Order: sequence, then structure tokens, then C-alpha cells
Amino acid sequence: MSSRTSDVLVVGGGIIGLVTAWRAAQRGFATAVVDPEPGGGAAQVAAGMLAAVTELHYGEQTLLGLNLASARRYPDFAAELTDLTGLDLGYRRCGTLAVALDADDRAHLRELHALQQQSGLESEWLSGRECRRLEPMLAPGVRGGLRVDGDHQIDPRRLTRALLAACERAGVVFHRDWAERLDVVRERAAGLTTTDGTRLGAGQVVLAAGSLSGRLAGVPDAVLPPVRPVKGQVLRLTVPSRYAPFLSRTVRAVVRGSQVYLVPRENGELVIGATSEEQGWDTTVTAGGVYELLRDAHELVPGITELPLTETRAGLRPGSPDNAPLLGPTELPGLLLATGHYRNGVLLTPVTGDAMAHALTTGELPDEARPFTPRRFAKHLTEQPA
Ligand code: GLY
Repeated sequence: MSSRTSDVLVVGGGIIGLVTAWRAAQRGFATAVVDPEPGGGAAQVAAGMLAAVTELHYGEQTLLGLNLASARRYPDFAAELTDLTGLDLGYRRCGTLAVALDADDRAHLRELHALQQQSGLESEWLSGRECRRLEPMLAPGVRGGLRVDGDHQIDPRRLTRALLAACERAGVVFHRDWAERLDVVRERAAGLTTTDGTRLGAGQVVLAAGSLSGRLAGVPDAVLPPVRPVKGQVLRLTVPSRYAPFLSRTVRAVVRGSQVYLVPRENGELVIGATSEEQGWDTTVTAGGVYELLRDAHELVPGITELPLTETRAGLRPGSPDNAPLLGPTELPGLLLATGHYRNGVLLTPVTGDAMAHALTTGELPDEARPFTPRRFAKHLTEQPA
């Protein structure tokens, strides 16, 4: 089959692949994306919380730095995309309220609050009464909570549409096929072969295929990203206008050890997520998953039972061994990674685009992204069995 050549070939047309392609094309690279369905992927399921502060975890302070860097870029990033495409992204600086329903939850939230304070983050402890004053639909049993005005939201489906439009305007070429194999020539990534046998040559290849990134044939084991699928089931409800405003900000909690969050959009959509399941490639929506989400969300906000349930869906987060992304050059010349974003793909989209454009241009990651080099997991190419 014929061979077409680009400077940068991105494997995967989800938000991470699209932002990489867009930023690469803006830097003057002839850029192509390989994906049977560009704009699909986990962002079609994600709620779109930009929750650097409320999703802080012990041991993830390095990731916090990248998350905050990306959160700071969101206003300009969203404005740039909207100016360019005319599309509204549903970017909403509504804030987040993390609440506790019992003494255990409250102890957990107090610890989170202490960690946030040690990390210099802004969050305010509220009594149960103060929480309900902010959000009157909350259950009377809420025992306290953390108000985090800096954790915002965006609509990932709108973000995807805008990134697709921005890529098209920037001249990115889309090959609507599966990448079958990475082509390595003289120990350098030189392009891809697609499932229909087309050879696509490239100066640099970026593997940005989300949870599928570890499955591309031809990638040497030493640089194959250690990503795995982590299933998340998500519900979408609709708030009829007679109930509005139902919630004015994202409300979340840990209920019996499971995260549950309710993300209200201005258009009346209410997203409830998410399960976290290590089930391989399964994307079945299960009765148990829906039941648990509704049960936990109902404990937080009893009024949800009045709302139409309009969609149930499951997606796969690209989990990595340290819950942080893998960004930039690998030990195989010509092959870069932009994957492993796990729970933070939407939040990390702006900084990933910038870091990848920098890496494609200079061969190096910018300082803020250096800790996320894939080389932290790499075995040496020479250690490979013949
Ligand atoms: N960041 C939310 C989730 O992954 O469920």
C-alpha cells in the first residue's frame, strides 16, 4: 500500500492525542492522527472535573504540581479554543464541595484538609449547616465539608468537539483506521502500518491511545507503556428547568470507601460518577454499578430520584503504576508517549499539549513535565531478549 509521510504522527484521537496534534500543527509540523473514530475515547464518558485540590492524594505531590499547572492554564486554553472554533466548552468556574456523611468520612476529609493546607492549597472547612446553606439539596445528615472554589469543570464532549475543529483548522490529517504496528527502521520509530495495510511514515510518532497504548504491536517491550484500563461507570441525568438550580457546584464524597461525585452543567445535565474497577477491557454497564452510584448519590442528594436518567456509560481510564502520566521521548528514538493520565486526563489536557509540543520541537520536556518522563519505567533496550 502507498506510504504517506508526516512530521508527527499521533496514535489516538482522544483528547490527549488531539491536543498533541493541534499544538504540533501550530508549531508548523505536518501532523496526522490515526484513529478509527477521532473524538471517541474516555472523554466521551468523563465528567470533566478539574479537581486538582479535591482529588489530592498522599504521595502524589509531584503530580499535584502538574495538575495545578494545567488548572492555571485552563482559562486561556478554553478562551483560545473558543475564539478559534466558535465552540463553547462548558468551562464553568463553579467550585466544588466535598462533604462527609458520617464520622469516618469526616475524619477522612479532615485529613484531606490538612494535606491541602500543608500543600499550600485553598480550601475551607464548613459545618454541615454551612454546606446545606450553599447547596440546599444536600441531605440533612451531611456532617461537614470542604469548600474548594478553585476546582472547576468543563464538558469533555464539548472540549473534544472543539479540539477536533481546531485540529482541522490547523491542517491535521485524520487517518480513520486502527494502528496495527509501529514500524521501526534502523532502531528508530519511522511510522505505522494501519490495519488496512497502509504505511504511514513519520519523523516522530506519538503514542496517545489511552488505555490501549500498551498494546501496539512493534513497540519494543522496553518502551511499551505500562498502562492498564481502569473502568469507570458514569450516569447522566437531566435536571428539568422547574428544579433549577438543583446544584450550583460539583458535590462529591467518599461513601463506604467509594468516590461519588455529582457534576451539574449549565445546560441541565447532571453527571454522576464514577465506579473504579479493574476489569480488563470490559465496558459493560452493570446493574451493580448503576445501583451503587445511585445509592451513594442518593445519600448525598436525595432529590436525584426525581430526575430522568438519560444515559449510562462506561469508559476506561488509562491507569499507570504511579497514577501519573507518561509524557515525552522514550528510549526508542522517534517514539514519544502521551498516555497514562488515569483520573486526570481532562484536567491535564492543556499542559500535555504544551509539554508535547515542546518535546516534539526540542527533544526535551519542559521543567514542569520532566518528572513524568516515560524513562522512569523504562528497561534498557539492550536488556531485551533477542
Ligand atoms: N477524575 C474522576 C474520575 O476519574 O473518576
